[in-house]
Formats: sequence, C-alpha cells, structure tokens
Amino acid sequence: MLVLGIESSCDECSVAVVEDGRRILSNVIATQIDLHRKYNGVVPEIASRIHTEWILPVVKQSLEEAKITKEDIDGVAVANRPGLVGSLLVGVNFAKSFAYSIDRPFVGVDHIRAHLYASHLENDIEYPYIGLLVSGGHTILCIVKSFDDIEVLGTTIDDAIGEAFDKVAKFYDLGYPGGVAIDKLSREGNCNAYNFPTPVLNKGNHKYDVSYSGLKNATINQRHQFFVEGDIDNKADIAASFQKRAITILLKKLYILIEDTGIKTVVAGGGVAANSYLREDLSKREDLRVIFPSLRLCTDNGAMVAGIGYHYLKGGKCDSLDITASPRVSSFKRKA
Ligand code: KG4
Ligand code: ZN
Repeated sequence: MLVLGIESSCDECSVAVVEDGRRILSNVIATQIDLHRKYNGVVPEIASRIHTEWILPVVKQSLEEAKITKEDIDGVAVANRPGLVGSLLVGVNFAKSFAYSIDRPFVGVDHIRAHLYASHLENDIEYPYIGLLVSGGHTILCIVKSFDDIEVLGTTIDDAIGEAFDKVAKFYDLGYPGGVAIDKLSREGNCNAYNFPTPVLNKGNHKYDVSYSGLKNATINQRHQFFVEGDIDNKADIAASFQKRAITILLKKLYILIEDTGIKTVVAGGGVAANSYLREDLSKREDLRVIFPSLRLCTDNGAMVAGIGYHYLKGGKCDSLDITASPRVSSFKRKA
C-alpha cells in the first residue's frame, strides 16, 4: 500500500511516499529556514504563505522521486495537529482535495505520534517501549504500547526543551534554528564551565516531569553577570554548559522511568533527538536498546506521517472531508 504523507505543521514543507508503513520511496523536505532566519524564529504568517506556494511543487517532486504517478497512491495522510494552524491548514486542505481528486481515502494524523513512529521506518521495534519525544513545542516521556496507544508519564511543566534551546540561542544571537546552533557551538566549549541549575521536581505527580524555564533564565542571566561581549570562547562555554544541563535534566527523569518500568528499549523522536550530546550520552547505556531516527527523520518530515498514516488506513480509519487542523496535541492518556 502506497501512502502519500504531507507535513506542513511549521517551517518545513514535506511530502513523502512510503510503502506499507516502512519503505521510503521519497521524502522531500523543503525547509523555510532561510526565510525566517532574519527574524530569529518562525513567523507564522510567512510560513503559511510559503506553504501555499511550495506544496504543489513538493508533491510533484515527491511523486517523481518515488517514480510513481498520483493514481498509484492508495491513501493520503496529513499532519493535522499540533502546530501552526495557518500552516497545518495548507497541508490539510491540499490533502483533502488531492485524495478527493484521485478517489482515495485520507486520514489526519497527530504529528507528535508521527515523530515517535519515525524510527519504525528504519528499525524493527517491538512494543512496548519508552518514548522520548523532544521537539520545539513538546517534551514527553511516555510508554508507547502501539503506534496509537501512548501513555504519558512525564512532560515539561513549562518550556519545551527545544524552545529553551531556541530562546537561549536567540538571546545570545547564536544563530537559527537555535538547537542546531547551540549543538555546533558547544563542540568548541567547555561543558563544565558553568554550573547551571537542575530543577527539583521529585514529588507526587512530578516524578517524571521536567522543567526548562529555570535553566533558560539562569543561562540568559549569565549575560549580565559574566558574559564579555565579543568573547567567542565564553559564548561557546555558555552554550556547552547549557546544552549539557538541558540534556542531563531529561536523562535523569528518563533513567528513573526506565528503573521503575523495567522497559529497556528507548525510542527518541522530534527535532531535539538530533542533538549530538543527547545521542552520545544516551547511547553510552549499553544495557539499553536506544534507537534514534536518522537526522533527516528527526526533523518534521512527510515520511513519518505516511508511515503512521498507513497503520490507520490499513485498520480502516479514515477521515471525512470536514476535519480541520488544530494547534493542540490530541489527548494522550496521562497516568495519574
Ligand atoms: O520536531 P521539530 O522539527 O519541530 C517541532 O515539532 O517543534 O523540532 C524543532 C526543534 C527546534 O526547537 C530546534 O531548535 C530543535 O528542534 N533542534 C535541536 C537540534 N536540531 C533541531 N535541538 C538541539 N540540538 C539539535 N541538534
Ligand atoms: Zn515536529
């Protein structure tokens, strides 16, 4: 079964063709990064306008690279949540008309669930496993029981991890996207130069939760105390120390969850799963099976949408033409 997957939730316009939820025939990712760089962040209105211009050529390129015609497609999947509503709507409306025109079913999928599915495109993975979803808008520690059955045990209580990377990078003018810039600059810095704070969230329902606003503010406040304008080494030290703390906050909670559940497989997903410190540090745990998507599948992409969409369509789930987009994640079960 060939599924066309469309992802337009933020600043990537991506369309893929995936066979049987596993074999990627094409995965075109047109990024708008250069168009948002001068604003140091994604401008929603610009993002949605660019999606309207790019969606058709990106679909055409995806079909060409897969060496198929639109009639070969068996179903269409589109990310319809969470994300920037204007951007999501472009993908959703395109998907509806495309599916209608070729008389095939279509389904809207949650792009957070799709991020967790990304590794299944490259690996055989048995359920259940611990899911580590780390992106610009979400930080979720969960038990994944099937592609669609996710029990959330921990989240951030304030900023998402990617958001903290982006805000620190913006404040120090390190580059855009912030996570990529900090990751790169950190290689030249001393990660032990600054001892940034770790939140204390041990009690009750917060056992597996994380928090990033304290770390973000502490890092930003270094500028007033220690930062010397123009001192590149100092910038790299701040970036490396921030990155180390951001990842250790996450891993501390992940390791408690592993200890408590006894589940030894960890599957990461989302833009921050590309972080080199996270990938290296977590991979040191030889007692665990740790799976990261390849870098191209960490970022927003159509292949993960087509991949998870296949499972819904195969199970007979499809949406009617009146579904719409939503900025929010669909409800996850949260353990009390
Ligand atoms: O999943 P994604 O592409 O979009 C969302 O769904 O949010 O994630 C984007 C986030 C941004 O915050 C970006 O700065 C971060 O992922 N990111 C990284 C790295 N590459 C992207 N964060 C840390 N290290 C990286 N190498
Ligand atoms: Zn994403």
